[in-house]
Amino acid sequence: MAQKIILDCDPGHDDAVAIMMAAKHPEIELLGITTVRGNQTLEKVTRNALNVVQYLDIDVPVYKGMSVPMVIEPRPVEERVHGDSGLDGPQFDELTRTIESKHAIQFIIETLMASDGDIILVPTGPLTNIAMAMRIEPRIVPKIKQIVLMGGCYQLGNVTPSAEFNIWADGEAAHIVFSSGVKVTMMGLDITRKVLALPSVIERMSKHDNRAAKLFCDLMTFFNKGQKKTFGWEGGPLHDPTTVAYLIDPSVITVKSMHTDIEINSEQSYGRTNCDYFLLTDEPKNSDVAIDVDVEQFWDIVEECISLYE
Ligand code: BDR
Ligand code: CA
Repeated sequence: MAQKIILDCDPGHDDAVAIMMAAKHPEIELLGITTVRGNQTLEKVTRNALNVVQYLDIDVPVYKGMSVPMVIEPRPVEERVHGDSGLDGPQFDELTRTIESKHAIQFIIETLMASDGDIILVPTGPLTNIAMAMRIEPRIVPKIKQIVLMGGCYQLGNVTPSAEFNIWADGEAAHIVFSSGVKVTMMGLDITRKVLALPSVIERMSKHDNRAAKLFCDLMTFFNKGQKKTFGWEGGPLHDPTTVAYLIDPSVITVKSMHTDIEINSEQSYGRTNCDYFLLTDEPKNSDVAIDVDVEQFWDIVEECISLYE
């Protein structure tokens, strides 16, 4: 049976690829897409989500969520990486798809409460919507089967030396999620930096003659320009799709159980995921942290997803 998921995202080039992968693969049943401020303003990321579902003719509802973090002031948007629209690169037709009238948090709460505890949440942006939903309706917590998120790192950060963007953008929300008791599987920079969308990958995917391949190549071509400027890499890390790839085939990513705490008190290290990699403490193992990825297998999964489109 397909795994039911809710994809909570801030598209975002890599979020868009995650949507493309989750929407068509038979192992996944995508119940809804919820948006959150992150890479860009809430208005822009929501528009981007709608553009992606319209472009790929994906029949999945889109719900708009939180426009600000729980406690801190909103972080600046990431134009360097994702451009002014938050999804620069592809050309989209005039937008006719619209958002649902329900707030994303209401959708998350109602869907979980009506479920048999069989839904996995897949956040690929800041954790504001998920944490807010947990605070508004704590009864959802035991209903969440698992949270498979992109965020954090046990090595080096990408917005500060210690923090990864999604966690840094709303540390308090991340703290609520990681200390909720729900099993959290964390796809951090430690592995996402291994799946680089190098020119050879773009060329490989371009051989498929469909809209998913075109979207992938247009997105990655733009994305790589920003990555080259900021980090000097020829191909940008395809962070967010690691979550969906893992759900399609868990053997692609190796995880290790450990305790993870979110740093919310320090100025320099705010948003750090303090992962007890060497099991130095007796703290409960609240997270399965990704420690390795089979890069070839990962690209095979991405390609398989692309090939599912007409
Ligand atoms: C995360 O930040 C965003 O730019 C990406 O979409 C990804 O979710 C990586 O740090
Ligand atoms: Ca993202």
